Amino acid sequence: MTELFDFKTQSCHFGVMGNPVAHSKSPRLHHLFAQQFDLTIQYDRIQVDVGGFAQAVSHFAAQRGAGLNVTLPFKVEAWRLCSGRGNQLSASAQAAKAVNTLQFGVDQSVFGDNTDGVGLLRDLEQNIGLQLVGKRVLVLGAGGAVRGVLPPLLQRRPATLLIVNRTAHKAQQLAEKFGGASANNPTAGGGAKPQLVGCGYAKLDEHLNEAFDLIIHGTSASLSEPLTASTALPTLSARCLHADSVAYDMMYAHSPTAFMRWASENGAGTVCDGLGMLVEQAAESFLLWHGKRPATGAALSALRNAA
Ligand code: ATR
Repeated sequence: MTELFDFKTQSCHFGVMGNPVAHSKSPRLHHLFAQQFDLTIQYDRIQVDVGGFAQAVSHFAAQRGAGLNVTLPFKVEAWRLCSGRGNQLSASAQAAKAVNTLQFGVDQSVFGDNTDGVGLLRDLEQNIGLQLVGKRVLVLGAGGAVRGVLPPLLQRRPATLLIVNRTAHKAQQLAEKFGGASANNPTAGGGAKPQLVGCGYAKLDEHLNEAFDLIIHGTSASLSEPLTASTALPTLSARCLHADSVAYDMMYAHSPTAFMRWASENGAGTVCDGLGMLVEQAAESFLLWHGKRPATGAALSALRNAA
């Protein structure tokens, strides 16, 4: 890709676009990484109105912006943008149909990547010590964040991966799409092809003959508290969990999220927020932009201590 694109290696302006974005720890994180290499960077939080994403991205690129992280609700829109003429997508962004990292060429062309999946797997496998082969996995949500992590999760060959979403047909569509894709993909670690199913919350009970080893919360529900009937996650049965289950929220907050509280109160063995995933995916974005891979352990501790 680098031979096709002339990236703005001289520019040091980066940012994260989303809505909401005020809570984002990405600026702190990228400054911590930059310090490891004595780099001086500018990294801003950029709140974008729904409907204004493409315009905000081209404005940023025109101002000599070098790279952006993209967070909810724009990851699918970012993929669409990079699918347009003159732009490019990495293999992981193509597989996910969602983008969380943009890199701009001097002609303002855009390269879109998705580092969420590798970030989640690094956190689960290396930081938490969970191996997925043969496991039962439940994923809540079917939006851009979930699309990014499905292909690498499936490559680890869990026995079952159930996607449950408020809008059932979106979960079914993801299962159909990624079921076909995973059948054709070589996988890490061998193992049988995962059983991949999508449904709505009303049908979750039908899949509770056994509890799940890993439950990943990837919805945008419960982002702001106090919760209301429309912002709360639907009630989940305690039968989803066993004593060794890992409950993983792809979000992070100053205090445990509603999903984390539910998991703790209902007997999950390990309950985690998404701070480790945030740090690991950011390290991959940093590598793309600067050609250097930062160490992540100290940055994760610094963010935890600050919280
Ligand atoms: P992101 O990029 O973070 O994934 P998104 O693409 O807007 O954001 O997707 C948000 C996800 O959260 C969707 O799966 C959405 O469910 P719908 O497909 O039914 O919209 C889910 N979500 C949002 N609010 C929810 C709520 N109150 N209860 C359950 N799921 C919710």
